[in-house]
Amino acid sequence: MTDIRKYYEERGQGHVFAHYHHLTDHQKKELEGQAAQIDLDEISALVSTLIRASGTAHSSLTGELAPADYIPMPGHCETADPGLWKEATKRGEAALRTGRVAAFTVAGGQGTRLGFDGPKGTYGVTPVLKKSLFQVFAEKILAATRIYGRPVPWYIMTSILNHEDTVAFFESNDFFGLSRDRVHFFTQGLMPAVDADGKILMADRDQIALSPDGHGGALRALVRSGSIRQMEADGIDTISYFQVDNPLVRCIDPTFIGFHLMNQSDLSSKMVPKAYPEEKVGVFCQQDGKALVVEYSDLPESLSTERDEAGELRFRSGSIAIHVFNRELVSRLGSGNEEGAGLPFHLAHKKVPFIDEAGVRHEPGSPNGYKFEMFVFDALPFARNPVIIETAREDDFSPVKNAEGIDSAQTCRDDQLRQFVRWARAAGIEIQSDESGLPPFAFEISPLFADTAARFRHAWDALPHKPQLTEGLVLV
Ligand code: UD1
Repeated sequence: MTDIRKYYEERGQGHVFAHYHHLTDHQKKELEGQAAQIDLDEISALVSTLIRASGTAHSSLTGELAPADYIPMPGHCETADPGLWKEATKRGEAALRTGRVAAFTVAGGQGTRLGFDGPKGTYGVTPVLKKSLFQVFAEKILAATRIYGRPVPWYIMTSILNHEDTVAFFESNDFFGLSRDRVHFFTQGLMPAVDADGKILMADRDQIALSPDGHGGALRALVRSGSIRQMEADGIDTISYFQVDNPLVRCIDPTFIGFHLMNQSDLSSKMVPKAYPEEKVGVFCQQDGKALVVEYSDLPESLSTERDEAGELRFRSGSIAIHVFNRELVSRLGSGNEEGAGLPFHLAHKKVPFIDEAGVRHEPGSPNGYKFEMFVFDALPFARNPVIIETAREDDFSPVKNAEGIDSAQTCRDDQLRQFVRWARAAGIEIQSDESGLPPFAFEISPLFADTAARFRHAWDALPHKPQLTEGLVLV
């Protein structure tokens, strides 16, 4: 018996090899390879702490929760200090001119809610050209490279399930004008799904039911893939993190980067006031003197609906999953060097198709399996000087999560159009819109033409012949 099979046998997971003798040599190798990557002690610890105790490793929300502090934005709050925001912008711009910032996108998710067959980043989102999410980010990063005169390397985390398609998409689009040696792809880790007894589920006779280990897996994947080492060699110490689903994000925001650096923070985050109590965003809180994000599903209703004297939601700081990481923090947490190990795992109860020891296939109609995922925001309690700044939702956040309704391609397209209208008006252009700011026609401003209202005004003023803003106009 091979060592790996013995190891599984000894730990009560021998059924993983139940069909071993019917496999081809190639399949045997594949299965052994998959099995070798799983740490059975880790799985067994997770089964006892999460499934048997039912919860998440950290979601011992036992201590008292308070709302987290944040830096309010001028124009949104009377106490905001515009001078501080200007200083932060200058500081961030200076950092960008020294080339110490990288962009980082987590794109390893399966995008099941959108129902789109392919890596989510390849999904078309812009109002006229239907540019993909990846192209929008690429153009924003290219714009930053031009503005600050230094390349901004871009790290993209995929999973084994979408890696090849993602890389092929960039290849076939010539990396959207970015220098290909500045775009780095790496895959995140995988975790096996288990049943209620902690037995690993098999997707097939030769396949363990594996799935991505959550975006929190980014920290260890950045380390394991050598990306952190490469950043260090390239003089990068600041990582601008965003999710693949949000084309409005300012991938490289000098003000945000400036706040992060001015405060010598390990991890900075952007918040928007929640639109309504049930909004599906994590909430920045404080517990035992540490900042943390409590996921929407974990925040007790009594807190999510609580209001302060002014009638505002007390726990209103919505996390829009935009962060700046200090490279050292990623290195520490991603290498598991932190006291008390790295990020905790959370449990997801899901329908996991599987094949049993008798070789019978099961397509469960209700959740039968457990998946383990890490969340990147669980790095927050480990961070020195965490900073949370407010941002304007309309300029940073309109994710595409669902096929229809809230947070869909349609709402995102409309939000992009409203932003273009605001920029046009700020440049003195007259343009019709409805009450919500939506124009009666679709047009598009490429991030390479302008990526902020101020730069739009500048670029527009410089145009010798001003085009009419009409249906289908694309400013590039
Ligand atoms: C997420 C956040 C939520 C935040 C909201 C903002 C979690 C658990 N919740 O919700 O707090 O308010 O976004 O939009 O994250 N991904 C990977 N690998 C994985 C899993 C996900 O790279 O294994 C990536 C996805 O590609 C995507 C992002 O992480 O870019 C978000 O994942 P998703 O599961 O869609 O999170 P949400 O539930 O929408």
